[in-house]
Amino acid sequence: LGADVAALVASRTLDVPDFPKPGILFKDLMPLFSDGAVFRATIDAIAAHYGPDSFDVVVGVEARGFLIAAALAYTTGVGVVPIRKAGKLPRAVHSASYALEYGEATLEVHEDAFVAGQRVLVVDDVLATGGTAKATLDLVEKAGGTVTAFTVLLELSFLEGRRRLAGRTVDALLTV
Ligand code: PRP
Repeated sequence: LGADVAALVASRTLDVPDFPKPGILFKDLMPLFSDGAVFRATIDAIAAHYGPDSFDVVVGVEARGFLIAAALAYTTGVGVVPIRKAGKLPRAVHSASYALEYGEATLEVHEDAFVAGQRVLVVDDVLATGGTAKATLDLVEKAGGTVTAFTVLLELSFLEGRRRLAGRTVDALLTV
């Protein structure tokens, strides 16, 4: 989405060694979210990249994806749908299990989250192995949405998550 916003993301990413497990270098984007000007510039860059009327709803992946999704939905005037970890959503759900870089997890979406054919932009903070993203895209489509693109602030290319999203539009503000 451009060198300026990539530099912004880089400037607000902290490397945390051995979190949540020994050997994992955790990418912490909290400094981006906590700086009002940087957060706004980041969200505005995503909105500008896609332009007006290019999606009908934004999907955010628990938990950090929620921060991006809500802000982007608000500024573009669309709604927001959460993809949640297992057991959090109160009504009938579709579920998908996947392997994380560390451990395993299950994600869920309400079965009636989308109007059939609704254009969905999926956002998250980090694309690592792609397990989360692949499960999310599968869930959105099972629930009737049409994924237009998957947007992340930071892509860790050495984990090759993009390969699991073949045929999809994957936009990363910063790829390392
Ligand atoms: C992190 C990150 C992505 C996912 C990326 O979330 O926010 O959702 O991992 O990893 P992957 O590409 O290897 O699947 P995490 O599971 O740590 O959840 P949290 O935001 O609730 O802490």
